[in-house]
Amino acid sequence: MTDVDLTTNVAGVTLPNPVMTASGCAASGRELDQFFDVAELGAFVTKSIMLQPRSGRPTPRMAETPSGMLNSIGLQGPGIEAFLANDLPWLVARGARAVVSIAGSTVGEYVELARRVGACDGVAAVEVNISCPNVENRGLVFACDPAQAATVTAEVRREVPADVPVLAKLSPDVTDIVAVAESVMSAGATGLSMINTLLGMAIDPDTLRPVLGGVTGGLSGPGIRPVAVRCVWQVHAAMPEVPIIGVGGIRTGADALEFLLAGASAVQVGTVTFHDPSAPMRVVSELADELARRGYGKPAEVVGLAHQRSGDAS
Ligand code: DHB
Repeated sequence: MTDVDLTTNVAGVTLPNPVMTASGCAASGRELDQFFDVAELGAFVTKSIMLQPRSGRPTPRMAETPSGMLNSIGLQGPGIEAFLANDLPWLVARGARAVVSIAGSTVGEYVELARRVGACDGVAAVEVNISCPNVENRGLVFACDPAQAATVTAEVRREVPADVPVLAKLSPDVTDIVAVAESVMSAGATGLSMINTLLGMAIDPDTLRPVLGGVTGGLSGPGIRPVAVRCVWQVHAAMPEVPIIGVGGIRTGADALEFLLAGASAVQVGTVTFHDPSAPMRVVSELADELARRGYGKPAEVVGLAHQRSGDAS
């Protein structure tokens, strides 16, 4: 077996490996740290933080679906003040590379969040959640409109120090994800996280009512992986130089490899952590094995490789 060096550069930041948590699946790291040292991850992506504390949407907020999970959490969280006082300092002191996810309901809120997060030491990157499905008004899903997505991205970019990457998290619920990707990259994003959850819903045949208190919710888990791989593939084909972090239904090292082959240079592991909290670190070692078995020495050697094996580059 080849010796594999998992060191990865993503959007100009050097990480010990290409595996991160996915935003929203492990709060700010304390819970997962009971299962493994969060500093051993490539990076830890925090639950999207908003300006004010929020209690979220009505319960029930989660529902199982075949090969997936629906959630309508509604961006529950402590607000930026408490996050910066308690959560981020813990993560940074722990030695983790902290990627801070921010979510606003107006451009001004994103600006304020970016300014405050950008002023903190130890932030490895800012992930801009412009694609949360659980907002009252679909018109506020900035990632569904290339022009609005660009406006938010440009404003956030202005507030964050130049050496801190800005990653735009895109929604698959669009007709043309390449158009949104091009728009946010032109607006100054350093890279892309793809994909956020898909908007879904479930109805209980016994109660004859929607299962989720919020009616609709975000669909995640293995069922969405082919959609995520397709999005990464399309954007990498259009813009091969753009750093992409692949996310959507990754459970194993082989799943992570699939995203690298499609064109991602790093991956995020999310929903699987709810039933296997050790999964992110397991994916790290499984990915090393998958690369070694095939004779590769580092992840960068396989990024986008499937495009070279395909007759169709689109
Ligand atoms: C939330 C839920 C999601 O599925 C998501 O992708 C982002 C945010 C939430 O409701 O908090």
